[in-house]
Amino acid sequence: MNPNAIAILGGTGDQGLGLALRFARAGRPVVIGSRKLDRARAAADEVRAAVPGAEVEGLDNADAVAKGPIVILSVPFEHTAGTVKAVKERLTAAHVVVSMGVPLATAIGDGAVRTVGVWQGSCAELVASLVPEGVQVVSAFQNVSAHRLRELAQPVECDVVVSGPPAPRKLVMALCALVPGLRGVDGGPLANARYVEGVTALLIGLNARYKVPEGIGVRFTGLPD
Ligand SMILES: NC(=O)c1ccc[n+]([C@@H]2O[C@H](COP(=O)([O-])OP(=O)(O)OC[C@H]3O[C@@H](n4cnc5c(N)ncnc54)[C@H](OP(=O)(O)O)[C@@H]3O)[C@@H](O)[C@H]2O)c1
Repeated sequence: MNPNAIAILGGTGDQGLGLALRFARAGRPVVIGSRKLDRARAAADEVRAAVPGAEVEGLDNADAVAKGPIVILSVPFEHTAGTVKAVKERLTAAHVVVSMGVPLATAIGDGAVRTVGVWQGSCAELVASLVPEGVQVVSAFQNVSAHRLRELAQPVECDVVVSGPPAPRKLVMALCALVPGLRGVDGGPLANARYVEGVTALLIGLNARYKVPEGIGVRFTGLPD
């Protein structure tokens, strides 16, 4: 396991690939996970083409987990539990799992401008209920637009509320600082993820009403430096 590597499960999709590009651009080794090895490899090729010299590889999700201590879950909410269960045997106490999922009502065939209730309180707490004991779960990146992440020439103007146990929370806040324009904000315990996840549904509605398909972001004012 490379201590600097960041594994992104479902990194073949919009949001995961955006994060992969940004972290690769920042010089971090990135492992793109997929259910299909060929899709993972193709996504890794895409990162290499956009970021010359990028340290990136594509593997199936379970093998990706074994490569790095940070594992970002980048699959639609409705596939979160299945994805965690598929890789859980590879998760150890050395891992920090980052939940980025939002329980959008699209999961039940309804719209993306509202969420559905999750028994555990949030997608992040659902993940925490599924990982083996000792694996730490942090919530982050739900309010960041995939489109903005993928525009490598531009900063991603957005605050990232990071919630979870203190040590891994700080670790993930430091990851935010790798991406120009992103700022990690200390979001306290994991239970606060429910507020942050809901904001994404609000942002999707704002994007539609204000006709900003690139994605509106969030900034908190008055925070000390
Ligand atoms: N898009 C955004 O702007 C945005 C913004 C904020 C947060 N998010 C969150 O980020 C996460 C990823 O969003 P996205 O837009 O990147 O999603 P996506 O493109 O729809 O899907 C991401 C990946 O999930 C995997 N996947 C699809 N169906 C699956 C299944 N049945 N089982 C397991 N994996 C499956 C696929 O990877 P493989 O086929 O390669 O396995 C796919 O490439 C979501 O939780 C979303 O709420 C997205």
